[in-house]
Amino acid sequence: MPKLRIGIIGTGGIANLHLKSYHALENVEVVAGCDIVPGKAKAFFKTNKCPDAKGFDSKEEMFKAVKLDAVSVCTYNSTHAECTVAALEQGLPVLLEKPMCVTMDEARAITAAEKKSGKFVTVGFQPRYDPNMQLLKKIVSSGDLGKIYYVQTGGGRWRGMPGGTFVDKKLAGVGVLADIGCYSLDMVLYALGYPKPLTVSAMTADYLGKSKKYNPDFYKTFSVDDFSSAFIRLEGGLTIDFRTSWAMHMDTTGATIFLGSEKGLKISPTEGLWGGAWDGSCKDVTLFHDEFGIPTSTAIPLQESPGWEENFISKCGAFVKAVKTGGPAPIPTEQIIYNQAIIDGIIRSSAKGCEVKCDL
Ligand SMILES: NC(=O)c1ccc[n+]([C@@H]2O[C@H](COP(=O)([O-])OP(=O)(O)OC[C@H]3O[C@@H](n4cnc5c(N)ncnc54)[C@H](O)[C@@H]3O)[C@@H](O)[C@H]2O)c1
Repeated sequence: MPKLRIGIIGTGGIANLHLKSYHALENVEVVAGCDIVPGKAKAFFKTNKCPDAKGFDSKEEMFKAVKLDAVSVCTYNSTHAECTVAALEQGLPVLLEKPMCVTMDEARAITAAEKKSGKFVTVGFQPRYDPNMQLLKKIVSSGDLGKIYYVQTGGGRWRGMPGGTFVDKKLAGVGVLADIGCYSLDMVLYALGYPKPLTVSAMTADYLGKSKKYNPDFYKTFSVDDFSSAFIRLEGGLTIDFRTSWAMHMDTTGATIFLGSEKGLKISPTEGLWGGAWDGSCKDVTLFHDEFGIPTSTAIPLQESPGWEENFISKCGAFVKAVKTGGPAPIPTEQIIYNQAIIDGIIRSSAKGCEVKCDL
């Protein structure tokens, strides 16, 4: 069987893990890559010892010179849409890194290009492949909790401010919300079956990011959010209380909890959940219920997590499988556009200082 030929758009940090993951799979080869920084893609393949892969200084040159079957879009957030649409226009399915994009206009441009091309986009949320995520989905979707009416989620770093392309608004578009907030949202929305968001009331902050004292390396270019909190109403009488942080004067933003009319579920603490895997920082999953009229709690054993890199291989593997079979997308944009609408709502609500309708 001929090898599937992959191109990578954006050969920065995360492209390394895409390359490694594709090459851990059978019958797949990364044959080309491009980056707008001249020479960066060539250097990327040299460093990664891929002498046969070709590096280009633009996606247009790459599309013209090399026959591809699919691409990974690994650029910073503000060029996700442009690169994804360009690949779809070439008839190529796309594995798009999270977050989907920055604005709702970009999100709509991606879904319109998908429809027009007949090719699919899958969004890169590798924690979906962790067995504990599957367990969470199984519990929440079983109906055992009764009517779920309130969810609290997020994930906060006490200190963990990134720099570079993640904190400059021109490149990142959005800050912590798009970096790690989107994982927490995907985790609970996926478990709940991706209900449609209706309204958002939110605040974002940038106090630590803009402070020379707390962010000496990047305070000058810091132009995004470093903390965000929101109350989100969704269809079906469901509410999500959400908070996320890159840096704060607190150790945690708290547990993820699901309150149902019959049972409650707590995952504590939340910090390990949004990352690449349910790593060691997630200590317990507990079910709260009444037994013989007595409030009772039952610990649910955590499943052993294969880890970030293994989940990443699963994410690339699911994409490759879908390319070979012609889809559907493993993590489709019809779902993730809801995630994006919440992020967009949070930014708009915070700017206006009042509740806003989700732009869907
Ligand atoms: N899934 C994960 O676990 C994970 C982890 C880290 C980052 N990410 C996501 O991956 C994306 C990239 O993150 P990173 O850390 O690699 O950033 P990075 O800044 O290191 O790399 C991005 C690269 O894209 C290039 N680029 C930008 N626009 C381009 C264009 N139009 N054409 C070609 N190249 C272009 C930049 O020059 C840069 O080299 C971000 O959206 C981030 O959220 C995902």
